Amino acid sequence: MLAIIGGTGLTRLKNLNITHRQVIRTPYGEPSGALMYGEINGHHVVFIARHGYGHTIPPHEINYRANIWALAEQKVTRVVSVCTVGGIREDLPPGTIVLPNQIIDYTHSRKHTFFEGGDKPVTHVDFTEPYTPKLRSRILQAALVAKQRVLDGGVYAATQGPRLETAAEINRIAADGGSIVGMTGMPEAALAREAGLSYAAIAVVANWAAGRGDSLHKVDLRLAENVFEDAIEHVHRILEALVKVDGD
Ligand code: HPA
Repeated sequence: MLAIIGGTGLTRLKNLNITHRQVIRTPYGEPSGALMYGEINGHHVVFIARHGYGHTIPPHEINYRANIWALAEQKVTRVVSVCTVGGIREDLPPGTIVLPNQIIDYTHSRKHTFFEGGDKPVTHVDFTEPYTPKLRSRILQAALVAKQRVLDGGVYAATQGPRLETAAEINRIAADGGSIVGMTGMPEAALAREAGLSYAAIAVVANWAAGRGDSLHKVDLRLAENVFEDAIEHVHRILEALVKVDGD
């Protein structure tokens, strides 16, 4: 089954017909909320709001392990993460939808692995391609079918937050090769890989990153609200097409 993890601006899927909710307890604590089971145009999906349904959990306090564990336990095989990011590259203004293909992890102090504690074998999962290529292709195909423009590829820089970055930090991330910056991409992607789930992200650029575009001296997350809401509408259309090309 396909799962969708909704980020900022996507605490519910408006085209999801909810059939039931399930509260899952995990060995890692509480997930961000109940899993919402439902159908989009007759196709089964499960949804969870990463920041909680009232958007109360900040990026560094999200229980990523509990969320991924709960989905894996419910026989989810594919996870599409919808996330909000700042645009670093000149060609990625607010409103752009990016399907990143790489990650640089700048987060710290997060519970980032299932493989810890004496009872677990030493395990090093391959993470060369952090987003599952096949799932990425399906999302690209869905975007094409839904006639929605998405940018194929980009480096997602995951920062710790909750504060936004300094302009110098963004310059450093750009020099490292980062295209977009967000606070929730890791360890979520790595945990999905450890749990054996396919995982890909649809990143919506909500603002220019610090020191870029109209964020030269200050990042004002409200500035591009309309553009962002439009982009979320496009994401809904992509997801509707995805459930069709993805099947159950
Ligand atoms: N930086 C980090 N995370 C974000 C940003 C940003 O500029 N915009 C949305 N999420």
